[in-house]
Amino acid sequence: MGLVSMKPILEDAQKKKYAVGAFNIVDYNSALAVVRAAEDLSAPVIVQTSVKTVQFWGHKTLRAWMEEIAGASSVPVALHLDHCKEVDFCKKCIDERWTSVMLDGSAESFEKNLAMTREVIEAAEPAGVSVEAELGQIRGVEEEVVARDDAHLADPEKAVEFCKGLNLAAFAPAIGTAHGVYKGEPELAFDRLEEIARRTGVPIALHGGTGLKDEVFRKCISLGVAKINISTQLKYAFIDGFVEYTAEHKDYDPLKVIAAQCERIKKEMAEKMKLFGSAGHAGQTEHPL
Ligand code: 13P
Repeated sequence: MGLVSMKPILEDAQKKKYAVGAFNIVDYNSALAVVRAAEDLSAPVIVQTSVKTVQFWGHKTLRAWMEEIAGASSVPVALHLDHCKEVDFCKKCIDERWTSVMLDGSAESFEKNLAMTREVIEAAEPAGVSVEAELGQIRGVEEEVVARDDAHLADPEKAVEFCKGLNLAAFAPAIGTAHGVYKGEPELAFDRLEEIARRTGVPIALHGGTGLKDEVFRKCISLGVAKINISTQLKYAFIDGFVEYTAEHKDYDPLKVIAAQCERIKKEMAEKMKLFGSAGHAGQTEHPL
C-alpha cells in the first residue's frame, strides 16, 4: 500500500472507538516485525522513530526501509517522528517524506509551544504530512512520577485554546502516564482526558503505553484515545528475543537470531494491536498523501 498519512487513520479510530498502535522501532528488523504483526491482523499501524533513531541510521536509510516494508504490505502504515523538540528537525523529516511528525514543545511556554507547532504545521500541511503536538509534561519514570502530579498535567482550558484552529492529527495531553517502566501503579487523570478529548475533538495520543493495565487501555480508548505509543516494551522484546535465543541455541547463526527477535516483537506487538481494537480496520479509510 505504501506509506500513508496518519490523520485519516486516527480519524477512523476516533469515530469507531479503537486505537492505532504506534510503535517505536529501532532498526529494519523491528520495523518489519511491527508491520508483519499489523498485516496478520489486518490492522492500520504507526511506525515511529525517535530523533535518536533517525540520527543513528540517517533519514534516507530509514525512509528507504519503510518505503520498502510499507510498499510490500497490504495495510496502511504511517511513518511518524516521535517527540521532536526542534522545528528544523521536524522540517527535515517532512522534506524526507515522513508522513507524520510530532513537535514536542511541552518544555516551552504555552505561547512558544503554540508558535513552534504552527510553524511545523505550515511546513507539513502543503506536503500532506500529519502533525501531533503535546501540552503539559509527559515525563520519564526516572523522574519518579508514578503518583499523580497535577502541576505537570494538561489543563483542559489551555488544551482547548491550544488546539483551536490547528487541525492536528493527534494531540498528546499529559494525563499522568510516563515513559519507561512504571515503578508503581500510575494514577491517570481520566477526568481530564475525557474533558480534553470531548472539548478539543482531536484524536488523543496516549504516551507511556508500556506497563499499563488492559483495563486502563480500554478506558482510555473509550474516553477518546485513538493512538497509543509503545516503546519500552518493544525494546525489551528486541533485547530479550536475542538473549533468550542465544542462551537456548548455541549455533551462532545470526539469521536465526534475527528471525527469533522478529517473531518475539511481532507476537508482543500483535497482542497490543488486538487489545487496542485495531485488528480488522486496515481497509476502511482513504489515505491520500
Ligand atoms: P513507553 O516507553 O512507556 O512505551 O512510552 C512510549 C512513548 O510514549 C513514546 O513516545
